[in-house]
Amino acid sequence: MKQKLLIAFPMLEEVVQRAQEDFEVITSTKDLSLSEIIEASAEHHIFALMISGKQNIGSDAFDGLSKNLKVIATASVGYDHIDLKKAKECEILVTNTPDVLSEATADQAFLLMLSTAKRLPESMRTMHSGWGKNPGFSEKLGRDLRGKNLAIFGMGRIGQALADKGRAFGMNILYCNRKRLTPDLEKGAQYFESFESMLPKADILSLNAPATAKTYKIMNEKTFVLLPEGAIFVNVARGSLVDEEALIQVLETGHLFGAGLDVFRDEPNIDPRLLKFPNVTLSPHVGSATLETRTAMGLRALENIQAVRLGQSPRDELTTGSHL
Ligand code: DGY
Repeated sequence: MKQKLLIAFPMLEEVVQRAQEDFEVITSTKDLSLSEIIEASAEHHIFALMISGKQNIGSDAFDGLSKNLKVIATASVGYDHIDLKKAKECEILVTNTPDVLSEATADQAFLLMLSTAKRLPESMRTMHSGWGKNPGFSEKLGRDLRGKNLAIFGMGRIGQALADKGRAFGMNILYCNRKRLTPDLEKGAQYFESFESMLPKADILSLNAPATAKTYKIMNEKTFVLLPEGAIFVNVARGSLVDEEALIQVLETGHLFGAGLDVFRDEPNIDPRLLKFPNVTLSPHVGSATLETRTAMGLRALENIQAVRLGQSPRDELTTGSHL
């Protein structure tokens, strides 16, 4: 008899078909809520649960889950939405999907940076309101990326992919990371042990670190003003790394040239004050949202589940000390 797998959100057909080769798959046409996940998991006695990065499995959830549950595979690299400690106590393995989304997420950071530097949101507003008048030669000028310092906080796989893109655009790479990279990975980037000492050098700051107790609100009223006047701020990591009040304040004072944001403190809600800034590029947490990448994430999550079914160690098993 095939084991049961609950995919708790609408999954791409290719992944579902692959999963059906070895599992009885329970699919969903919408993102299931936590209570729906618990209910379906118990009703079907599921062996495996696949969730997305937007579905929280906190400590309270575990008591209600299927007693047969052996693995929770999140189709995301981040795993701050799952209580790993509780999962371990319940002897449930948890896996994520690193690597496969690094390029797409770094593309998103680059897109937000370039769009903000070139004032794309303002251009779009102009075009949507009928254009009508050519901007003057010296008006509404953007900024070049070439020759600028791109400071990356969190030089894991996504940070390194972003650094490569920055190099291709002629940028100087600065970074701050828990550990200094080896020279072959560092590729000439300047390492800063202290985050605070990197900030004054950043023409653009990109956050690419996981959400942890240490990174919580690392950008706050003190750190934002360490950035030079006219810096660009980019976040594709997690909203919890930023004190949004402090961000709004530095946008209001004009300290920043602009910001590019894919993640927010209260997703899927946006603070309406962020919408009023013409120099802010916004996207709704879609860093990994390409057909190729989401397919690869689904297949990678499935690969991890398959390993558990076969009694093997899954490639992306998370432990409480795991990092992006
Ligand atoms: C991730 O994979 O962590 C993305 O942010 C989607 O949640």
